[in-house]
Amino acid sequence: MVGRIIAIDGHASTGKSSLAKYLSKEFNCIHINSGSMYRAITLYMINNNLIKYVDKDIDYLLSKLSDIRIEFKEVDDKLKLFLNEKNIEKDLNSLSVSNEVSNIAAIPEIRTKLVKLQREIDRSKGVIMDGRDIGSVVFPNADLKLFLTASIKVRAKRRYDELIKKGANITLIDVINNIEDRDHKDSNRKTSPLVIDDDAIVIDNTNKTIPDQVELIKEIVKSTFYN
Ligand code: DC
Repeated sequence: MVGRIIAIDGHASTGKSSLAKYLSKEFNCIHINSGSMYRAITLYMINNNLIKYVDKDIDYLLSKLSDIRIEFKEVDDKLKLFLNEKNIEKDLNSLSVSNEVSNIAAIPEIRTKLVKLQREIDRSKGVIMDGRDIGSVVFPNADLKLFLTASIKVRAKRRYDELIKKGANITLIDVINNIEDRDHKDSNRKTSPLVIDDDAIVIDNTNKTIPDQVELIKEIVKSTFYN
């Protein structure tokens, strides 16, 4: 994997990050969850009472972008996301962030800032990056492009179980609505919408466990990189 890039894009809650984490261990490379960067900006906007400006005064909201510093730092051998020097990973998957993040991710200036950071990440060990526009915009020349999808029922149940385990007070319907809303907004925004690239390999993981997917992708990597 040295120096190579694997892009994993796909619909919301298809398990892109969990899969990418396993694969990065398998291939001894780094994993970047680009969605966490959009979530970090959203969290900042919520915590600083700025989210209302998305509709009201976008220029004011954008003037605050330079106050936001996003970095990945190694902690116990793992890359952790820091927002203005604070490790905020545990706060990124709340439903309040999930409900706002697609609106933040649709703002072109915010995408430009994050795409620049994504391209600057050290790729020497090889990188697996997951998101929505990794194969189409961030790394159009990626060595391998995967696109994950799954039925809405299975995606919602997986995310619901994850949130309940963390103590969230939500219903399955809340989660279904949020996932459908994000898919719709991510696929229909003007800048860098979620698309299936012509050269992406589509994996429907409705009936596949993570180990099943890891085995499948190891085979794909073998035939793509080493044949
Ligand atoms: O992968 P995720 O669900 O954590 O992503 C959160 C949101 O960020 C999602 O609504 C889409 C957006 N996103 C994006 O627009 N581009 C990316 N590369 C990654 C995520």
